[in-house]
Amino acid sequence: MRQKIVAGNWKMNLDLDEGKELLINILDTDLNNDVLAIVAPPYIHLNSFKRILSHTNIGLAAQNCHHQDSGAYTGEISVKMLKSVGVEYVILGHSERREYFQEDSLAISFKVNTVVQNGLRPIYCCGETLIERQDGEHFKTIAKQIKQGLFNLNEMELLNCIIAYEPIWAIGTGETASPAQAQEIHAFIRKTIAQQYGDLVANNISILYGGSVKPANAQELFNCPDIDGGLIGGAALDAKSFATLTHSF
Ligand code: PGA
Repeated sequence: MRQKIVAGNWKMNLDLDEGKELLINILDTDLNNDVLAIVAPPYIHLNSFKRILSHTNIGLAAQNCHHQDSGAYTGEISVKMLKSVGVEYVILGHSERREYFQEDSLAISFKVNTVVQNGLRPIYCCGETLIERQDGEHFKTIAKQIKQGLFNLNEMELLNCIIAYEPIWAIGTGETASPAQAQEIHAFIRKTIAQQYGDLVANNISILYGGSVKPANAQELFNCPDIDGGLIGGAALDAKSFATLTHSF
């Protein structure tokens, strides 16, 4: 059975004290134990968060990484460093990284490889712009991102990945893809994977939806057959909402 997942992408929000307060509040809520809850705070929170989370089932993710182990890359953090503080997941290819930091699919695929080779799990994001959707190009965009970012992995490596479909027009806008729109793309991603790796692999990969998910709309999205949970931005910054999302299946 595929893993149900609710991952909170905190983005560049909350200083360390505020972040710890949110984490403690999340720990005080009644999370659904059948769902893997993951928090992805800023880099500087990770070390102390790992200690706080050590006796819990909550997963810890970074929001980015560099693909080299070490070297003259001022301002960067390697996967080896993330691993050394107990990080288990890394969000890669988020549309904000693609847009504001000019990360192209080749650069992202290097990161995916390094993350997988270090035994961490990528949360690989894909998604189309509004113009691409209006022009009917969304399937082409998604297929390209999935192939370029993930298809140089072998079966076992791919099975270690989590995919997040996040239509760019729905991120932080309050605009959500309809359950039918989201399901259509999730099924398409699964089919694209099946064509390359077979049904067994495709059916065992968790594909999350992201883009203005909140308690009010999560249930109808998470109940779609190919949607295995969510990558959540804004609503993950509220402990009660985050907990409610884990019960929205
Ligand atoms: P949002 O962000 O839930 O605030 O739209 C989702 C994301 O960017 O991962």
